Amino acid sequence: MEREQKEKIYRQVAKEIRATLEGETDLTASMATIACLLHHSLDYFFWTGFYRVVAPGELLIGPYQGTLGCLRISFDRGICGAAARSRETIIVPDVHQFPGHIACDSNSRSEIVVPVFNNKGDLIAVLDVDSAEYDAFDEVDKRHLEEIVTFLRGKTTLPL
Ligand code: SME
Repeated sequence: MEREQKEKIYRQVAKEIRATLEGETDLTASMATIACLLHHSLDYFFWTGFYRVVAPGELLIGPYQGTLGCLRISFDRGICGAAARSRETIIVPDVHQFPGHIACDSNSRSEIVVPVFNNKGDLIAVLDVDSAEYDAFDEVDKRHLEEIVTFLRGKTTLPL
């Protein structure tokens, strides 16, 4: 996708996400909203969602949009694990070239994984986006997705 077009869509979707989350304190509902709005706004997004840190070194799927994903990923596996370990965004232009990539769906060809932090700076999740196209993600995706996940700060999921 053209850089200008991408920028335009991200600016619009970020605005929509911000408006929808206004006043919402629930973390799960907010993650679901982000996954949904991103997934349906950017046509090169094939799988869009979160893996939450549920135990030391362990990620658990959800909320997400797309085909079936692997349920649990440990920090020592895959691109999600690598981003969780390094606490930095990872862009992989060709997942087949990434040692240890976890192929949940063989249609996935490139990927970006963005760490999600709470207000204290603890890693609480990663946002994982896969594309069926090679080399779909760049600095524009990184900058906007890193900004969008900051909208989750200060939100918590309370037990019912
Ligand atoms: N490809 C990821 C696994 C998650 S799925 O893409 C949904 C990885 O290697 O971390």
